[in-house]
Amino acid sequence: MKILVVGNGGREHALAWKLLQSDEIERVFCVPGNGGTAAMERCENIPLTVDNFSGIKDAAKERGISLVIIGPEVPLAMGIADYLQQENLMVFGPSQAGTQLEASKSWAKGFMQDVGIPTARSAVFTDEEEKAAIAYVEKNGVPIVIKADGLAAGKGVTVATTREEAKNAIHDSFAGKFGLSGECIVIEECLTGEEASVLAITDGLTVRPLLPAQDHKAIGEGDSGPNTGGMGVYAPAPIVTPELMDRVQTEILEPAIARMRERGIDYRGVLYAGLMISPDGEAKVLEFNCRFGDPETQAILPLLETPLHELLLACAQQRLREMPPIRWKAGVSACVVMSAKGYPGDYEKGKAIAGLEKAAARGAIVFHAGTALKDRQLVTAGGRVLGVTALGEDFDRAFANAYAGIECIEFDGAYYRRDIGHRVRSAQ
Ligand code: AMP
Ligand code: GLY
Repeated sequence: MKILVVGNGGREHALAWKLLQSDEIERVFCVPGNGGTAAMERCENIPLTVDNFSGIKDAAKERGISLVIIGPEVPLAMGIADYLQQENLMVFGPSQAGTQLEASKSWAKGFMQDVGIPTARSAVFTDEEEKAAIAYVEKNGVPIVIKADGLAAGKGVTVATTREEAKNAIHDSFAGKFGLSGECIVIEECLTGEEASVLAITDGLTVRPLLPAQDHKAIGEGDSGPNTGGMGVYAPAPIVTPELMDRVQTEILEPAIARMRERGIDYRGVLYAGLMISPDGEAKVLEFNCRFGDPETQAILPLLETPLHELLLACAQQRLREMPPIRWKAGVSACVVMSAKGYPGDYEKGKAIAGLEKAAARGAIVFHAGTALKDRQLVTAGGRVLGVTALGEDFDRAFANAYAGIECIEFDGAYYRRDIGHRVRSAQ
């Protein structure tokens, strides 16, 4: 079987790596892929952009692809799954209508209210309602959260601790800071607690959660500084107890998919609930995503025992219910992201990367995010450069292994947080 993966991040490298662990997979193609996918055996990059739907369709047909897996949200929100399905290709990824759950926060809020999914209280304002938005902040006070409605690569959310900050966030969004994504905003109650990511796979009928994970969004140690796409992650996250997972399944994931179906929306892909878990153990949804999380996927997939293609194909063919329970390896997984100097602001590219073989020899699984092969030399090509993952019997051992891997790796300006997993490790 041949599979095509769309995207070029650590998530896509992890997907390709996991798929290739099965002998049934003859070859994986990545569009456009990165330095890591280029270097794997039985894996090949195809240099097309992710918005080139007809190019991707032709590439898939020419190569006899059995399943196309879509990684990033942007092509999904542009309707890539609908397009490829119409061309009779098997696709793992929701229809454009389903991606509104991630691509429009106001739509997602309306959907959650409709279904009765627990979430923060909120109100929606358009750019013609700046005064009303400010009045809402005055009335509700701070802290308060301002969110650009549309996709903003994780940068459209401000947790404002002063009224000034809230007003500036409203103004900046309406003034075009996030382009069209910010013409409409959601203002919501600030929730407190611990965050966790529950990713589930679904065929639109049945939903199966994967192991829960906990990401670290802030760039700085002690969860300080601006938010990033994610600086490190571990799984399974103990904060999501089996009892809480059952509730997430029956109160959030299943009703969401049931309502999608009732609304006539084809949803075959990942349903990812970003949760805030209060100190008394109640989970509310901060956001939904319609794709695999990154870096969550880099920590979750190394623990997966069931062949990945069997699960994703079952989703695409709407027979997930027939699949036996998902099997997981014993132990836990830790992933620490190495980023380029300057990230999440402007960063440098083209720096030579060394030491990956040494890291692998020490047992680390190094997923590439922003890397490229240039004249046969691996160089940095993005803000988040590598995700260094390791397994262990417990979190102390898994993180020790991941950090031992990191110590082998060098590139100019390399940065990583030393405190990833601080909630689950013994004192460092
Ligand atoms: P989102 O893209 O909606 O997940 O928001 C990005 C980040 O902003 C989340 O991971 C949280 O850290 C924070 N955030 C979003 N909504 C809220 C909220 N209602 N209360 C507190 N923090 C929030
Ligand atoms: N790690 C957060 C995300 O994938 O959105």
